[in-house]
Amino acid sequence: MRNMKFEELSFSEAPKIVGELPGKKSKKLLQLQRDIEGSALSYPIGIPIVIEEGRGATIKDVDGNVFIDFFAGAGVVALGHCNPYVLEAVRKQQNKITHTLDFPTEIRLELIEKIRMIMPGKLRDGVKVQFGGPTGSDAVEMAIKLAKYNTNRHSLIAFEGAYHGMTAGACSLTSGKFWKEKYIPMLPEVHFVPYAYCYRCALYKSRNNCNLECVSVYERVLEDPHSGVVHPAATIIEPIQGEGGSIVPPNDYISKIAEISKKYEVPIIFDEIQSGFCRTGKMFSFQHSGAIPDIITMSKALGGGFPLSAIAYKEEHDGWRKAAHIGTFRGNVTAMAAGVASIDFIIKNKLDNHTTEIGNHILNKLEKIKENSEIIGDVRGKGLMIGVEIVENKETKKPSGKLAADLRTESYKRGVLIEIGGHYNNVVRFLPPLIITKELAEIGVEIFEEVINNVENEL
Ligand SMILES: Cc1ncc(COP(=O)(O)O)c(C=O)c1O
Repeated sequence: MRNMKFEELSFSEAPKIVGELPGKKSKKLLQLQRDIEGSALSYPIGIPIVIEEGRGATIKDVDGNVFIDFFAGAGVVALGHCNPYVLEAVRKQQNKITHTLDFPTEIRLELIEKIRMIMPGKLRDGVKVQFGGPTGSDAVEMAIKLAKYNTNRHSLIAFEGAYHGMTAGACSLTSGKFWKEKYIPMLPEVHFVPYAYCYRCALYKSRNNCNLECVSVYERVLEDPHSGVVHPAATIIEPIQGEGGSIVPPNDYISKIAEISKKYEVPIIFDEIQSGFCRTGKMFSFQHSGAIPDIITMSKALGGGFPLSAIAYKEEHDGWRKAAHIGTFRGNVTAMAAGVASIDFIIKNKLDNHTTEIGNHILNKLEKIKENSEIIGDVRGKGLMIGVEIVENKETKKPSGKLAADLRTESYKRGVLIEIGGHYNNVVRFLPPLIITKELAEIGVEIFEEVINNVENEL
């Protein structure tokens, strides 16, 4: 791999706004999309851009505006848009073959070996990898199906604030009521327990009088014959919650949840779809805890920007019957080639260190901005999975989705793309490509500070 300077990966002129937003051509195409595409659209409502090109941590729209991308296609383009090293591997593969079902190919086996290689110590030996359909939800479906196969049980435990996807099973495990209200029936016997969301503790504890009572609630649900929860096939958890608002639980939380799961013989699934592949400064976010899962779900960055999903699990859980989980797109070798190149890139460029350094830098800056702000209730994150929780004021902590949406719009107008998430859609999320430079990250955060000040001054 030739030496790649991260500053050369992005458009050097970012951010550059050339006129009113959205521009003339964008407006026309946005309208065309609304006219001819189904109305379940989401992202262009909050961020009305029509993308022409992407490079590194920057995006150019069809009117020539160049944005800093703090969103990275919802975490997919961890190595930046059009990463030349990944694209070179893709082109090489595309000249050979692009679709192979689940027949073995060298690139498929290479990716499996690489996934095995990046597993932490205790998991590395004997881990098996299974590919799913092209998207993260497919990995989740596959994980719960495997757990049900292995345990002959059917109920499942998930966590408040969880996001696991939109297919029927994954949506059942997702906590947001909005997605479920008109989409019934869901999977039966899915139960939600509190996550360690310390800023809004479900058990009304504060950080200085907390003994991880939320963990005790989880244990009680498994232990108490009258908890109402039939012994589950699996528990699924994001070691750091993404869409729920970039929630980093306290030290020990994840390892305790894993310990209790083991004690009650409930397989634990760690959903690493958003947090995996160095997003949080370690290859997988569960490595911050030392806990070892039974099944890991992967997607987003796994395919280096191309659609791919997989699960990895200990060999003892390989309870599938032959052909028990089939699917035509489980052989997307283009994405697999991109995945192999991505893992190489992550390791050779020590993205774990880079992500940690830039992440800490952004967090420190945001903490300072919070000191002078009435509407920033909490700043949290690990690596480049960062959240800023927006409230009406710090005393009441009343969530403000409206102010968060205003911040997103105003940032966009100044050339910075951010998304929002969280229980009340009130968390501004910073999820830039991991190859973002310190300089670009700083410019983006400075613009965000300006936007916070402006929005606050108008209150
Ligand atoms: C933790 C987690 N799991 C699952 C999914 C679903 O992935 P997809 O949207 O690719 O189906 C997401 C998507 O944001 C996610 O963040």
